[in-house]
Amino acid sequence: MLYLEVRIMNKKTTRKRVLIKVQDLAKHYTMGSVVTKALKGISFEIYEGEFVGIMGPSGSGKSTALHQLGLLDYPTTGEIIIDGVNVNRLSEIDRSYFRLNKIGYVFQQYRNIPELTALENVYLPLRMLGKPRTYYLKEAKSLLEKVGLEGRLSHHPYELSGGEQQRVAMARALVHKPAILFADEPTANLDTDSGKVILELLKHFNKHFRQTIVMVSHEPEQIKYFDRVIRIRDGLLEKDTNIKFNKRDKL
Ligand SMILES: Nc1ncnc2c1ncn2[C@@H]1O[C@H](COP(=O)(O)OP(=O)(O)OP(=O)(O)O)[C@@H](O)[C@H]1O
Ligand SMILES: [Mg+2]
Repeated sequence: MLYLEVRIMNKKTTRKRVLIKVQDLAKHYTMGSVVTKALKGISFEIYEGEFVGIMGPSGSGKSTALHQLGLLDYPTTGEIIIDGVNVNRLSEIDRSYFRLNKIGYVFQQYRNIPELTALENVYLPLRMLGKPRTYYLKEAKSLLEKVGLEGRLSHHPYELSGGEQQRVAMARALVHKPAILFADEPTANLDTDSGKVILELLKHFNKHFRQTIVMVSHEPEQIKYFDRVIRIRDGLLEKDTNIKFNKRDKL
């Protein structure tokens, strides 16, 4: 019996594919004579299909880490390898194209385009990728339906609630089927119920479409949604906990 369990576990472990490899990542912000060492050299790997929570105190470097991984900023030193590509070595244009193709990003402040409707906001990434109109309309409508907004296609962001705006932002971040979805405290501006809807949706995409998600959170009650929690403190990796494994241990 034990032998069988070990074999099953080995089989599972060997199937894991590294999607993101972070090596000695550091980020220093310089403002005049003040240098803030926001990240002081962190290393970790993220596997395909994982839902990873990044947690830690305010100012510990969580958003900085996500900005570097999501290619919104350049690290001071260190390597980031995403889907086998060392992204620091890409030219500016290749980096933009890589980001457009492989990465989805959800911000705390939604960041939908106010002049565009929900539908137009969601299909925008596909238009930018040069997809045909029939395709991008179909995909955007289907995704808005999945997040429960089929009745809000023609609404502008200001005509939507915070929770609805965040669901539009999520659909927009997922419409091009990115390899990784990054989310930086996506529920911080929402009430508990709307926040729960967002987390349940993220979990749904993770479970049913094997969407890899890396999400910053400061809410301990959200840990139950994560497979793993990476804790950052004062720019350093404090702890890397496999939640899934611990849950199985307790049963
Ligand atoms: N663009 C910037 N320029 C200068 N310093 C910055 C910049 N962005 C962040 N910092 C500093 O880097 C440190 C880490 O900031 P970061 O935003 O990553 O923290 P955080 O863990 O996301 O915090 P919070 O939970 O409050 O969002 C902080 O001391 C912050 O003041
Ligand atoms: Mg932050």
